[in-house]
Amino acid sequence: MNWYMDLDRCLVEKRSCKSYLDKQVPIELIGEMLKAGTYAPSAGNLQNWNFIVVRDQQKRYEIAAACHKQDWMRGAPVHIVVCNDIKKVTDMFQRKGKLYATQACAIAGQDIMLKATDVGLYSCWVGSFDEYAITRILKLPDNIIPEMIITVGYSDQMEQGLERIPVDKVTFFEEHGKNVVEKSFFPLSKYGQNIGKVLERATGPSAQQQESAEQPQSSFGRIKNWLKGR
Ligand SMILES: Cc1cc2nc3c(=O)[nH]c(=O)nc-3n(C[C@H](O)[C@H](O)[C@H](O)COP(=O)(O)O)c2cc1C
Repeated sequence: MNWYMDLDRCLVEKRSCKSYLDKQVPIELIGEMLKAGTYAPSAGNLQNWNFIVVRDQQKRYEIAAACHKQDWMRGAPVHIVVCNDIKKVTDMFQRKGKLYATQACAIAGQDIMLKATDVGLYSCWVGSFDEYAITRILKLPDNIIPEMIITVGYSDQMEQGLERIPVDKVTFFEEHGKNVVEKSFFPLSKYGQNIGKVLERATGPSAQQQESAEQPQSSFGRIKNWLKGR
């Protein structure tokens, strides 16, 4: 198993997907995604997330409407609504509790999406919704707040969502605004090719690097080459 390459593939391939195939997602894969979500860190290990898996078509249509009519969501066979059991956290961390509670749910959501990519699924994070409508549709109790809806399904379309602010514009060393300290640090694209050697120097040789050399060119390979050119 090549852990470095697997994570890299998931990070690069995890693009927001808004076009899904009419194909069911096996319940086992939903289980894998939720398991991944529960490994997220949380303040005080309070694990203040609730996951609501919605497969019922009528309910998914209602959710799409509650997301300010994002009709593309109807096509996703699964909606995972990540909810925040906020009181659990604010009781323990009064001032920062609200922020901590949201952050933990966000990490769980990201991990669910990474796992979706890992098992060959596509997903999109949806944060634009009417909180009251979602609360009503899902019969959420008072203290449970919907944080995001993750649409999940199969797709045969690679979305265009790759544009990113160059990392040297948002990274500083030692203090904000200082980015010339490590002149040779950027561009980060140069590291991809030699990372195997760097890992070998840092941790010793492993079978992982040998395996990666044998991997066929996938859409990940194509995107990675595209990133290298940036
Ligand atoms: C907090 C948050 C809220 C978002 N809300 C929506 C949304 O309501 N509808 C949508 O289509 N995409 C939504 N997205 C997805 C972003 O539009 C998408 O991640 C961004 O355009 C980058 O594209 P990529 O994920 O394909 O790289 C949201 C993402 C985040 C993190």
